[in-house]
Amino acid sequence: MDKMLQSLEKQALEEISKAKSISALKEVEVEYLGRKGKLTNILRGVKDLSAKDKPRIGKLSNEVKNNIDKRFTERREEIEEQELKHELSKEFFDTSIPGISPPIGHIHPLSQVQEEVERIFNQMGFAIMDGPEAESEYYNFEGLNIPADHPARDMQDTFFIKDKEDEKHGRFVLRTHTSPVQVRTMEKYGAPLRVIVPGRTFRYEATDASHDTTFYQVEGLLIDKNISLSHLKGIMAEFLSRLFEKDVNVRFRPGYFPFVEPGLELDFSCFMCQGDGCRLCKHTGWIEFMGAGMVHPNVLKAGGLNSDEYQGWAFGFGLTRLVMMKYGINDIRLLTNGDLQFIKQF
Ligand code: DAH
Repeated sequence: MDKMLQSLEKQALEEISKAKSISALKEVEVEYLGRKGKLTNILRGVKDLSAKDKPRIGKLSNEVKNNIDKRFTERREEIEEQELKHELSKEFFDTSIPGISPPIGHIHPLSQVQEEVERIFNQMGFAIMDGPEAESEYYNFEGLNIPADHPARDMQDTFFIKDKEDEKHGRFVLRTHTSPVQVRTMEKYGAPLRVIVPGRTFRYEATDASHDTTFYQVEGLLIDKNISLSHLKGIMAEFLSRLFEKDVNVRFRPGYFPFVEPGLELDFSCFMCQGDGCRLCKHTGWIEFMGAGMVHPNVLKAGGLNSDEYQGWAFGFGLTRLVMMKYGINDIRLLTNGDLQFIKQF
C-alpha cells in the first residue's frame, strides 16, 4: 500500500509537470483527484483498513494528496504566467512598421497649373503681380478705356458692392477681369514692365457647364521701347510649347477689346491632334485661347506713361479654361464645388 501511494504520487507529479495547458492540467486533476480518481479511490478505502494500518496509511495518503494539490497550484501558476507572456509577445509593438499617415490635402488643379504658368513666365523674365478682387469701377472699366456709356460694359456684367464708393474711383465691383492690374502696375512701377497677373475674377452670369460666376484668369503685360506683336507671338508660342511639352504654333485673328489697338484673338494649334483636327479643337486644328493686342494709348496714359516713348502689348486668358482643357474636365462647376471624389483625381 505504501509503495502504491508513493508510485502514484511520483506518477501524478510527473504528469502534472508534463501538462502544457490549463485544460491538460484539468484532465490530470480529474484522473487523480476526481470523483473516480486514482487517489480518491485510495482515500475512500482508508476507512476500511485495519486499525494497525489505518493511521499510517491515512497520514501518508493525506501527505500525498497535499503534495499533489500543492504541485497542481504551482503548475497552474506556471502555465498561466507562460500564457500571459505569450499573449504579451503577440501584442509586441513593432516600431519598424510604417505608421498610418494622417490624411493631408493636395494642390488643387487650378493652383497646379497656375504655378506652372508662373514658373514658365518667370523663366522668361516676367514678374508675378497681384491686385484686389474687389476693384473700383475706375480700374475695372474707365482706366481701361471703357467709359460708363460704352457698350463693352454689357459684355462684362458684374456684382456691385453696396455702400462702397469713393470720389476718385467711383463705385466698387467684383473685378470682371485681371486687366485692371495693368493700370495699377504701370502707376506703381512705370516702364519698362514685364508682368503676368494670375487671379480670381467674377461675372454676373447664369451658371452652366462652361460658365461660372467665379473663375480664374491670367493677364500679361509687356511695356518697353520698340515692342511689336511679333514679340507676343514668340512669347506665347514658347510659353504654350513649354506648358504642353510639345511644339505649339499660334495664330492671330482680329478681335475687339477697348483697351487694345489693334486688338486680336490668339489661337494655338491643338495639342491633342497636333493640328490634324479632333474633338477638342472641333476639327479645326486650332484652339481659341485668349484676347490680346497693343496697349491702347489711353490706357498707357491712365498708367502715367508717355505713349510716344513706350508701347507694349497685353493679353488675358482664362486659367480655368486652360485647366479644363489640360485635364479634359467638361463642367466648370466641378472645379469649385468642393466635391472631394472629383478633386482627389488630380
Ligand atoms: N480682359 C479681357 C476679358 O476678360 C481679356 C483680354 C483681352 C485681356 C485683351 C487683355 C487684352 O489684356 O489685351 O475678356
